[in-house]
Amino acid sequence: MSESSSRAIILDTSGRELDTIRQKLEEREYTEILALAWPEATKVLHNGGSGLAVVPIDVGDDTGIGRIEEMKRMRPEIPIIATGPAPIPDLILRAIRAGAIEFLVRPVQPTELAQALERIRFKTGLDRSYGKCIAVYTAKGGMGGTTLAVNTAFALARSEAERRVALVDLVVMGGDVRIFLDMKPERTIKDLAEEIDSLSRHELVRYLHPLEEGVYVCADPNLPDEGELLTGRRIVSVLRRLTQEFAYTVVDCEHTLNERTLAVLDFADEIVLITHLTLPAVRGLQRTLDVFARLNYPPEKVSIVVNRHGSKGDLTLSDLEKVLERPVTATIPNDYKATIDAAARGLPIYQSAPKSKIASALDRLAANLKPSSDGGKAANGDHGSHGKGSGLFRRKTEA
Ligand SMILES: Nc1ncnc2c1ncn2[C@@H]1O[C@H](COP(=O)(O)OP(=O)(O)OP(=O)(O)O)[C@@H](O)[C@H]1O
Ligand SMILES: [Mg+2]
Repeated sequence: MSESSSRAIILDTSGRELDTIRQKLEEREYTEILALAWPEATKVLHNGGSGLAVVPIDVGDDTGIGRIEEMKRMRPEIPIIATGPAPIPDLILRAIRAGAIEFLVRPVQPTELAQALERIRFKTGLDRSYGKCIAVYTAKGGMGGTTLAVNTAFALARSEAERRVALVDLVVMGGDVRIFLDMKPERTIKDLAEEIDSLSRHELVRYLHPLEEGVYVCADPNLPDEGELLTGRRIVSVLRRLTQEFAYTVVDCEHTLNERTLAVLDFADEIVLITHLTLPAVRGLQRTLDVFARLNYPPEKVSIVVNRHGSKGDLTLSDLEKVLERPVTATIPNDYKATIDAAARGLPIYQSAPKSKIASALDRLAANLKPSSDGGKAANGDHGSHGKGSGLFRRKTEA
């Protein structure tokens, strides 16, 4: 948030209500919170920007509505939260027409205020997503999805000045990320998804498992049936928040195109689609690409990666490229010892086998997933693209 957008004005509010609002705003990193009466508020508004205003309104008294209108005239960019005595449709309508962006019933409840502040962040783009979401998907299990998701996340973190990468294990029937990294998470994606709408930045990180390399793991649920709570919508909320906070969000997906997977694939900026050079794997790959075409995913959204390259296969790389009529983005060499050893030690491959060819190949894959310096490949800044575009899940949920 910019300096002026971290200032909030609370109009004509006192006592416990003021304390509640002030506390929530502080949690949301509003650093200058001013409780003011009307004449002082106008002076502050004249003097410069402000990030937010909270204005009480009432039935049968137009003072509050008039103040919202006046504030909007003075500083149209400021989001205004109106508070009223009850959820009266006519009052809400008038507040919105006057220029309020949210309406809350007094006494203001902390959770409701937190949710309103979260919605305002999205609506106003104050905290626009800036990171890139990368989904790692394989149509069949056992092809290296988790290996590539985990190691790509570490490679991206190493290449980032800020070293902030989220790694999400969305395999709800027993994900392997926690095993590959030998960790015991305190909280899982189930906990995060439940609370996502009301978490401050600070609180969000507490739902992740931080590793010193700059990778923050969002673990799979502890119990398989907890996955039922993870609807596509919840997952999109989680990913949207993570892409606000992290330069990269890498997701290890399940191997079926269920609602959860489709939500991730729709949302992702880029899909790493893994295959082997075997006939069953390539058949699975072709079927997946057919589905992606029906979902109108642009070809450049999908990076095809051949894993275990060099192991005995049914096709060559050029056979595959001819069949698909498109190039393969990267190949990862076959190195069973390095992958098994890393997983057994709970380490990324670049640490357990730093000089191996597979470690270099994983670095190259990550470099390929980064936005190019001319801004060509990825969403390096404006993530207006998230949640737009095409996709089965989107069509289903918007219907
Ligand atoms: N490049 C590679 N060379 C050799 N072995 C590999 C390579 N990549 C992965 N493997 C091995 O293949 C097996 C499956 O890998 P991984 O668990 O990453 O796949 P997956 O697609 O996540 O499978 P699933 O989710 O179905 O368990 C593991 O034993 C892993 O060590
Ligand atoms: Mg896996």
